Amino acid sequence: MKLRSIELALPGAAQAAAFLTDIWGMAPAAVVGDIHYLRGSGGYPYLVALEESADAYIRSTTFVCTPDRLEQLKRSVSDAGLTAAPVASDDPGGGHGIIVELAEGELLRFLVDATEVAPIEGADLPVKLTHVVFNSVDAEATGHLVEAALGFRVSDRTKGMVFVRCNDSHHSTAFARAGFASLNHIAFEMADMDAVMRGIGRLRDQDMAPAWGPGRHGPGANVFAYFIAPFGPVIEFSTAVEKVPEDYQPGAPEDWTWPEGRIDQWGMSDKDFAGLRAAEEKFRHRRDWDARPLTPIHEEQV
Ligand SMILES: [Fe+2]
Repeated sequence: MKLRSIELALPGAAQAAAFLTDIWGMAPAAVVGDIHYLRGSGGYPYLVALEESADAYIRSTTFVCTPDRLEQLKRSVSDAGLTAAPVASDDPGGGHGIIVELAEGELLRFLVDATEVAPIEGADLPVKLTHVVFNSVDAEATGHLVEAALGFRVSDRTKGMVFVRCNDSHHSTAFARAGFASLNHIAFEMADMDAVMRGIGRLRDQDMAPAWGPGRHGPGANVFAYFIAPFGPVIEFSTAVEKVPEDYQPGAPEDWTWPEGRIDQWGMSDKDFAGLRAAEEKFRHRRDWDARPLTPIHEEQV
């Protein structure tokens, strides 16, 4: 199971795409109708889809998996009683699978048979998405839900977040204890720490300072720099997220504390709490499809 892409709808999709290509460092992949697709250097046909819309919202976050894993998901999602539907992707790479709505409206799409493309060169291109994080009213409950319904695993719990993995990367998503449901941030995996730092430099040329970072996180140990994008959401340059073994023991909030005045391993950057919080309010979940039975119906239901 791998995180592949996020699909957003927003006013000013073309301007948002221009920022992500001209400044952030992505490459254009395709424009289909009013949807702009942007890619990184890796094999995924796109990482971010931006659809022109009167309102800003999250259409889906897409994972790719094997046919066996998809069949497991159909059973566990049905058993959990979640709203879901079969889906065929019209996005670059195609593929088919299911789309699932979690308890607080999060929309996760799982595809098989989605094709990849040849990697491209570019030291400043993101390689891929490394995580998409959501705000939750009850992050703890959502952590339990994704373990039971999706077969994901909680990697760590902190005072602020429940970190969740779907492969050996420490987290591909996380749920922040925010008190409301929305997009928290999108993190792009850069090739190395130099690529993160050069990214900070490119944004500095636009008079944009990090809202938090550069720094190195506790859980996942990844290097980070968060920015508030001109088109609304919080986006992150990241690199070197920790790989964890199958039997990784989840840490508890008391295992992840910082010395006075520090909120990361380096302690060199301020954090714009108010600015980040306002940006996190911008993209909510919006389901524009109806629940339909997932096929094939598994034996217990026959
Ligand atoms: Fe992050």
